Parts: sequence; C-alpha cells; structure tokens
Amino acid sequence: MRLRWTADRLRSGEGVGAIGLGADRAPPDLVSEQALRDHYALYLGYVDAFNRAAAGAPPETHGCPRTASFLVGAVALHEAYFLGVAASHPPPGDGPLVHAIWARFGGIDPWWDEMSAAARCARGWAILGADRDRSLHVVTLDTHDVGSEPDWEPVCVVDAYEHAYWRDFGPDRPGYLDVLSLCLDWPEMERRYAGAWR
Ligand SMILES: [Fe+2]
Repeated sequence: MRLRWTADRLRSGEGVGAIGLGADRAPPDLVSEQALRDHYALYLGYVDAFNRAAAGAPPETHGCPRTASFLVGAVALHEAYFLGVAASHPPPGDGPLVHAIWARFGGIDPWWDEMSAAARCARGWAILGADRDRSLHVVTLDTHDVGSEPDWEPVCVVDAYEHAYWRDFGPDRPGYLDVLSLCLDWPEMERRYAGAWR
C-alpha cells in the first residue's frame, strides 16, 4: 500500500512524483474548484519537502523542522484522500470490503457514523484502516504521523483539517463530512482492502 511504499521511497532516497488530479477525481459537489486547487497546492508543497528530505536535506516544511514520518504521512494520506473520492459517486456495491464493514460495524451507515464522529473530533485525519488480520478499525491522527506507526493500512482516508473544507463550508465540518460520504470511491476502497498487507 501507498503508506509503506512512500516510507520505503524516503528511506531509499528515491523520492516521489506527485499524483495528478483529473476531472474524474474532483467531485464538484464536494468542494469548489478553488478550494481543491488550494488543497492540491498544499500537497505539492509536501511532495517537494519529501523529495528534499529524500535527497538528504533535513525534513522541514515552511522552515519548521519535521520528522521523516510527518512527511511520509503528509504525502501518502493526502494521496489516499484525493484518490479516494470520485465525481461519479460509485455506490458501495457488494465486495469484500462492504461485507467486512457490515461484519464489523453493522452496516455502511453505522460505519460512517463512527467515521464521521472520529473526523469531527480529530484535528487532522480519520481513517478506516485494515489490520494485519484484515480486521477494520477507525483511527484518528492529530497530525500526519501521530499514531501512524502502521499496524493498519489506510482504506478510507478523511482529511478533517480545516484547510480541506473551510473555504466552502466554514465551520460546518459535519456538513462537509455528509457530502464527502456521498463522494467516496468504493471501487478504489475495495482495491485498497484487497491489497492490504499483501
Ligand atoms: Fe489536507
């Protein structure tokens, strides 16, 4: 999965290329084009910082010292977030992830209720992660690397930082989360779950 792959790239000094954001990856009803563009620019700054660190520079962003794991999380989690939504609004379907969500949480709605509650409380991220035994857990990170020593791999990643939604939703984080729940790319999430720990 991308979190481990990204960490390996930093350790090896290889660096990463930035993902693109095509029209199919920008649900127009999630956030405005300007909000998405600003958020994407923030991500590109993390990619630059990551690549400078991979080349041997001290990890930093905006002149502030960071840990290497901070940069790994900033890049990998933003990519999982951006690539985890789809303009086509694909429905949950009937795959192994959906079955696992039903088994663990009792349904899609109860799972999202837990995700949404976590995202309302987190400073940074709410994540549905798959453990080594492929069981599912909702975890939160207050910054890109606090709690990310991975005993889980990200399946669904919610950026709950204010920068993700404030331009369009103001303080209405629950409103942003409600809209986000309709924009999840379920086929992509099924692919992540199928590939977790493999
Ligand atoms: Fe973000």
